[in-house]
Amino acid sequence: MTISRVRQGEGINFYSRKWVRPEDLNANGTLFGGSLLRWIDEEAAIYAIIQLGNQRVVTKFISEIDFEASARQGDLIEMGLVAVGFGRTSVTMRAEVRNMITRKTILTIERIVFVNLGPDGRAAPHGYSSITYDRDRAPASAEQGKD
Ligand SMILES: CC(C)(COP(=O)(O)OP(=O)(O)OC[C@H]1O[C@@H](n2cnc3c(N)ncnc32)[C@H](O)[C@@H]1OP(=O)(O)O)[C@@H](O)C(=O)NCCC(=O)NCCS
Repeated sequence: MTISRVRQGEGINFYSRKWVRPEDLNANGTLFGGSLLRWIDEEAAIYAIIQLGNQRVVTKFISEIDFEASARQGDLIEMGLVAVGFGRTSVTMRAEVRNMITRKTILTIERIVFVNLGPDGRAAPHGYSSITYDRDRAPASAEQGKD
C-alpha cells in the first residue's frame, strides 16, 4: 500500500457542530457513544466525498477510539477532520471531537479510512494525493449542465 502522506501542520478544521439533545443520551445522562460515532462517520463521509470527488465512498477502517471526556444535554460539541494520507483508492483521516462548553477533548481517532468505489462497487483509483480546501472536486449533480 503506497500512501502519500499529507504535509502536517495544516491542523484540523472543525467543520461541524452538534447540540446534545435528550435523544442523544445514554442511561448515565451523558452523550451516547453510538450517536457520536454516527455523526463522525457521516462527517468523514462528507469529507471523503469532497476530497475524492465521488459520492460513492465507504468506511473501510476505524482505528482505536478512546472516549476521554463526555458531554451532557445542552452541551455544544464540534467535530474536526483532516486527511493525513491519500492511497491509490483510499483516503485516511484523523478526527477530533471537542466539547465547546467544557473545552475538553471528547475523543480522537487517529485513522479513519474511506475507500473510493467505482460504479461496480469495487475499489477504484481516485487520482488525488493532496488535500483540497475548496469545492473544486465536489461531485456534480447529474442534472447539472442540462438545459
Ligand atoms: C471497501 C471494499 C470495496 C474494499 O474492498 P477490498 O477488496 O478490501 O479492496 P482493496 O484490497 O483493493 O483495498 C482498498 C483500499 O482499502 C485499504 N484497506 C483495505 N483493508 C484495510 C484495512 N484493514 N485498514 C486500512 N485500509 C485498508 C487498502 O490498502 C486499499 O487502499 P489503497 O488502494 O489506497 O492502498 C470492501 O472491503 C467493502 O465493500 N467493504 C464494506 C464497506 C462498507 O460497507 N462500509 C460501511 C460499513 S458496513
